[in-house]
Amino acid sequence: MACASGFFLIDDLLIHERVAILRANFPALIITMKDLCCPLCKQALLSNSQGLACENRHQFDRAKEGYFNLLPVQNKHSREPGDAKEQLQARRQFLQAGFFDPLKKRLEILLPADTQTLLDVGCGEGYFTHAFAEVLPQARVYGVDIAKAGVRLAAKSAIHKNRNIFAVASNFDLPFADQSLDVITRIYAPSKGEELWRVIKPEGLLVIVAPAENHLLGLRQRIYADVRPHEPPVVPNGFRLVAQERLTGELVIKDKVLCQALLSMTPFAWRLAENLRTQLEREGLVDQLDFGIYCYRRELAC
Ligand SMILES: C[S@@+](CC[C@H](N)C(=O)[O-])C[C@H]1O[C@@H](n2cnc3c(N)ncnc32)[C@H](O)[C@@H]1O
Ligand SMILES: [Zn+2]
Repeated sequence: MACASGFFLIDDLLIHERVAILRANFPALIITMKDLCCPLCKQALLSNSQGLACENRHQFDRAKEGYFNLLPVQNKHSREPGDAKEQLQARRQFLQAGFFDPLKKRLEILLPADTQTLLDVGCGEGYFTHAFAEVLPQARVYGVDIAKAGVRLAAKSAIHKNRNIFAVASNFDLPFADQSLDVITRIYAPSKGEELWRVIKPEGLLVIVAPAENHLLGLRQRIYADVRPHEPPVVPNGFRLVAQERLTGELVIKDKVLCQALLSMTPFAWRLAENLRTQLEREGLVDQLDFGIYCYRRELAC
């Protein structure tokens, strides 16, 4: 198969011939992609010069920032699904200021050190996904989000680009092979238990982070006359809860720009009356952080 120049001409070969050649010559590359599957026909996706393709020749090009768009247009129910670009940029600004660092550090400790494959569903602009790739140097760490603007930001700023891979995709139809993932993380994002169950390995670990009772309680009290406490997440179908904990802390924001970032990234804060918003931006904000961290194991049946 090698031509005179030493390059391979593989585009016309059958899939198993391509795999054999790639495996022999580029073992790291072929391993990198084996967890992903085609969102159209569910066959395995393999690397080629432009991006990824399945054996039915569905092609998904690699964007210049390094991500893949694996969201079929028929699953895209609006022009720009997911969080808006401005919201994601505000989240990046707020997270990079370190306000959620205790959560990041706690999650890093919870991840099993022998994790080979991790998927962060609803990864946003990649703040947590990047951290997971940093602490799991041997793992392939994927991030998917339905918002292209988030995935673009995440892929662009990934440091370990060869094994920290981002894709535009829906949490409700994940472009991953059955039982391909050791760990799934879901931080403030929606999902469907059955789909997480399908893609996680039998002994896989699912970690969900959701706001607990007192999270941003002060801010919520300024907006709602009757504040209802956050409920713990429903146990996803096919999983059993094995551990849960609360992580609490104080949130002190003095900087006007960071105050604005919090208000922009928090949908309920959009309801804040204009005079209260101005007052917060002038005076700063002191509030409570209260995260619920829930760990689940996969059951045999869903
Ligand atoms: C509050 S943000 C959290 C982002 C990230 N996990 C973090 O903590 O920084 C929720 C994210 O879920 C994404 N999202 C919403 N619905 C989704 C879906 N059906 N599939 C994938 N992502 C989705 C949004 O686009 C948004 O980026
Ligand atoms: Zn296909």
